[in-house]
Amino acid sequence: MMVSKAVIGCQWGDEGKGKIVDLLAEDSDLIVRFQGGANAGHTVLVEGRKYKFHQIPSGLLYEGKTGLIADGCVIDLDLLVEELNILGDGSRVLVGDRASIVLPYHKRMDELQEKTRKKGIGTTKRGIGPCYSHRVGRMGLRVSDLSNDEMLEVRIDEIYPFIEDLTTKDSLLDYLRNRREIVEGMAVSTPNFLSDSRGEDILFEGAQGTMLDVNYGTYPFTTSSSTTVGAICTGCGVPPSFIDEVLGVAKAYTTRVGEGPFTTELKDDMGDRLREKGDEYGTTTGRPRRCGWLDLVVLKHSQMLNGFSQLVITKLDVLSGLKEIKACTGYDLGGEEIETFPTDLSLVRECVPIYERFGGWDTDPKSGRLPREARDYLRFIEDYLAVKITMVSIGAEREEVITDGF
Ligand code: GDP
Ligand code: IMO
Ligand code: MG
Repeated sequence: MMVSKAVIGCQWGDEGKGKIVDLLAEDSDLIVRFQGGANAGHTVLVEGRKYKFHQIPSGLLYEGKTGLIADGCVIDLDLLVEELNILGDGSRVLVGDRASIVLPYHKRMDELQEKTRKKGIGTTKRGIGPCYSHRVGRMGLRVSDLSNDEMLEVRIDEIYPFIEDLTTKDSLLDYLRNRREIVEGMAVSTPNFLSDSRGEDILFEGAQGTMLDVNYGTYPFTTSSSTTVGAICTGCGVPPSFIDEVLGVAKAYTTRVGEGPFTTELKDDMGDRLREKGDEYGTTTGRPRRCGWLDLVVLKHSQMLNGFSQLVITKLDVLSGLKEIKACTGYDLGGEEIETFPTDLSLVRECVPIYERFGGWDTDPKSGRLPREARDYLRFIEDYLAVKITMVSIGAEREEVITDGF
């Protein structure tokens, strides 16, 4: 049966979505990025070779696949070219003609805004926030604006009063004229294309994670797009009935890169151990990721927002060799136990994690069936969230995954 599947990060990004998308892409025809831009950093490891995708979908390493960077995305044309070169000619990439174009001044604004904030967000400085602001402020440029030179000039004239402090008309025109060819032949109307593709196996690849969602994450310490499942509808122009299955991807522990509250963060040796064993350094910026125990309150929030039909747990191997493992099952907020994620960040900052403790395991999970303690840990997660875990990743390589026996 032809199905469309969505892959959504449950935490603060870097859950291993790239690896899972690569894995599922073998049986897919079309892989679609529906939000975000080159702030994403999705790693795929195949036979020792590491690929890092920021702008294009991760599932295009197999021959004959089609990738689509849909309308909900913001596109950095220079990075797009770089990544197209990684692929060679084996697969093809399309871009939504309503997708926004990230311009050089968006990146400068991103840097400046970070400096201006009393407390920086720790953005990737890829111009994401300013580009989305210009989109919703109706002063942005889209892929379709590049389709003919006359129209491009008209559009630039229209937006120029808003950006004249940021660029000259000529340098903007030059920048875009020099890059028009990149998307020539790639642009499609996303809703029309997808509606014609219904019936194929489609994979929607989320970027960032639920807690970075601009509405439902830890605002303002979020990204500037909606990262949850609803973004597929708005970012691709498809109805909800278009999405058959929703897979949540969660790490067996938690990481966060950038600023903002993180209740289960470990600022001790255990945090360092998770960072070193899990190689937790940002794919896009190289920054060390903050590490902590699994937060099931976060996952429950994520489950509520996305309605996962399946859960994928990644990086379980990183927990091997620990005497004890903890997972947060609630927050103590002023003496009261809560299991829902507060809206107000000042309340989130007051929350003290309440932990369930689990016995650790030494056995290398690479060798067949998972150790009993690891299975107990997974079972607890399933029961807490009332979602089935259908895949467990136990290493970065494509093959290092278990789909039964846990
Ligand atoms: P994404 O942004 O969600 O695609 O995740 P990233 O690629 O930014 O970060 C995940 C990192 O963990 C990458 O370096 C992956 O190669 C690696 N990885 C993915 N799955 C596993 C796993 O099960 N075990 C280990 N040890 N590493 C993994
Ligand atoms: P993937 O797809 C982890 C974080 C940044 C910062 C905040 C805002 O690889 O999971 P932005 O540049 O988007 O304005 O930054 O969001 N962030 C990510 N963290 N993984 C990502 O993507 C991220 N993309 C953005 O660190 O805290
Ligand atoms: Mg990443």
